[in-house]
Amino acid sequence: MSTQAAPIQSVTIQNLESAFAGESMAHIKYRYFARIAREAGDEATAAIFETTADQEVQHAFGHLDLLYPKANLTPARALELAIEGETYEYTEMYPKFRHLAIEEGQSSAVAEFDEQIAESRGHAEAFRAVLEKAAKRFAALAKVEERHANHYRAALSQKGATR
Ligand SMILES: [Fe+2]
Ligand SMILES: [Fe+2]
Repeated sequence: MSTQAAPIQSVTIQNLESAFAGESMAHIKYRYFARIAREAGDEATAAIFETTADQEVQHAFGHLDLLYPKANLTPARALELAIEGETYEYTEMYPKFRHLAIEEGQSSAVAEFDEQIAESRGHAEAFRAVLEKAAKRFAALAKVEERHANHYRAALSQKGATR
């Protein structure tokens, strides 16, 4: 997902967003550096990058705890946020980047952005499918509950009638 969160309300929220982005980038960058080090046969360097990358994830989670408080989050809300982020990526961000890469003649970047557009669209669709299934599940559950409540009410009123 993209790093978009709730509307920016304060400089601290903005700073948390930047810090979250920085820690997240450090995590991925260190994983990448670890891979390079391992390929070069330098296991010690690979190991320190991997250990540190794991810690950066915890730092990023710390920022997310404040940006997306657990009390405000449900699985459905998380899916909505993810769909929002992925949709922004494939409808706005990557198309704009792609356009500018074409203007600069950066053909590798154009090809990579094309792949990312397809990936982000796929992610948004997969999230939406899960969200829709969950909505149907909830609707079905609500119907079952309603049937139970109706049976219960019917049984109660019958009892009342025989008294
Ligand atoms: Fe950190
Ligand atoms: Fe994605």
